[in-house]
Amino acid sequence: MSNAKDIFKKHQAQTFPFPSCLEIASAKGSYIYDVNGKSYLDFVAGVSACTLGHSNPIITNAVKEQLDKYTHVMVYGEYIQSPQYKLAKLLADNLPENLSTTYFVNSGAEAIEGAMKLAKRATGRSEIISCKDSYHGSTQGALSIMGNEEHKAKYRPLLPNCNTIDYNDENSLKNITKQTAAVVIEIVQGGTGFQTPKNNFLQKVREKCNETGTLLIFDEIQTCYGRLGTLFGFEKYNVTPDVLCIAKGMGAGMPIGAFISSWKLMNLLTFEPKLGHITTFGGHPINCTASLATLQHLLATNLIQDVDKKETLFRKHLAHPKVKEIRGKGLMLAIEFEDKLLAKKVVEQSLENGLILFYFLFNKTAIRITPPLTISDKEIKKGCKIIKEILKKYKY
Ligand SMILES: Cc1ncc(COP(=O)(O)O)c(C=O)c1O
Repeated sequence: MSNAKDIFKKHQAQTFPFPSCLEIASAKGSYIYDVNGKSYLDFVAGVSACTLGHSNPIITNAVKEQLDKYTHVMVYGEYIQSPQYKLAKLLADNLPENLSTTYFVNSGAEAIEGAMKLAKRATGRSEIISCKDSYHGSTQGALSIMGNEEHKAKYRPLLPNCNTIDYNDENSLKNITKQTAAVVIEIVQGGTGFQTPKNNFLQKVREKCNETGTLLIFDEIQTCYGRLGTLFGFEKYNVTPDVLCIAKGMGAGMPIGAFISSWKLMNLLTFEPKLGHITTFGGHPINCTASLATLQHLLATNLIQDVDKKETLFRKHLAHPKVKEIRGKGLMLAIEFEDKLLAKKVVEQSLENGLILFYFLFNKTAIRITPPLTISDKEIKKGCKIIKEILKKYKY
């Protein structure tokens, strides 16, 4: 009989040649435990997904209760299920009026797919514009608008009429025209190492979309719920999209996504042809329950208000001569180094020393810090100390 690592490597399809192969036994709060009983402080939260930490009783109790009532009963959109409609209503109560109606799906990529289809339907146009070096998911529609040719080339032909602008470059906004159905944009660009919008860039994109009759789609898959210090990232920058895509952190560890728009636009998916988007498990009652419990908890506590203070603490305790820049916003921070070898060393050595960090898709000189929103000040200081001790040791 093979051991778990052999089975994992042979029988589970791999995403790249060198996974860390950490074998998980359990996870609680800000910690993950491996099968040897070693604990790891988690500064990644499943890549911005575990909003309330691991095995939070708020989530597990709500999920257990729903499990005893029902799980899957029908494809999305047919029956009235309380976890779905209560979540849709609470979202609407906390969003601007034009974002009143939610379509629940299974993942971030599917939320993007739905939003792209909605934009085509709403405008009768086909061009979708995204940003260079953006990431919106790995399905073929989402891949078509990924702003990186290396990841796309072998999968072509993809969707036609997908073009790019440069994030934070207002000169490139001239590419948005009356042919453009939608601009899809991340509030904070993830893959490049958490670039934040500069010089009112998002406002300028909004104005250009208004001018050309183009839908503005915000990809808040990684920024929701609360990661930037406001429930949704767009609130921080005072720009409202026509369509909002969310996933990851909205489920606090359970798989769920959604695209949200006005009732009028969403209704376009219901006729000529009807069933404009179909999903069996979208809005699964267990996952909507987890998302509802997360949202209720965030609204009832100071966890979101505390994000800015936690950011300040990270910035203070990570300052070091070998750290070139600490970029990002809230609990979505990137440590930028001069050298990619140092970035790699810090991630690898941190794991040895009981701290989980992770990489970015396109930026090899930076590492990500996206802990649960529930992380304590003490845990922040402890993790930063581990990073600084590694920096002291290595000369790059
Ligand atoms: C900004 C952004 N959009 C979309 C996605 C895709 O989400 P999912 O992996 O749930 O399909 C991700 C995932 O990393 C993301 O960070």
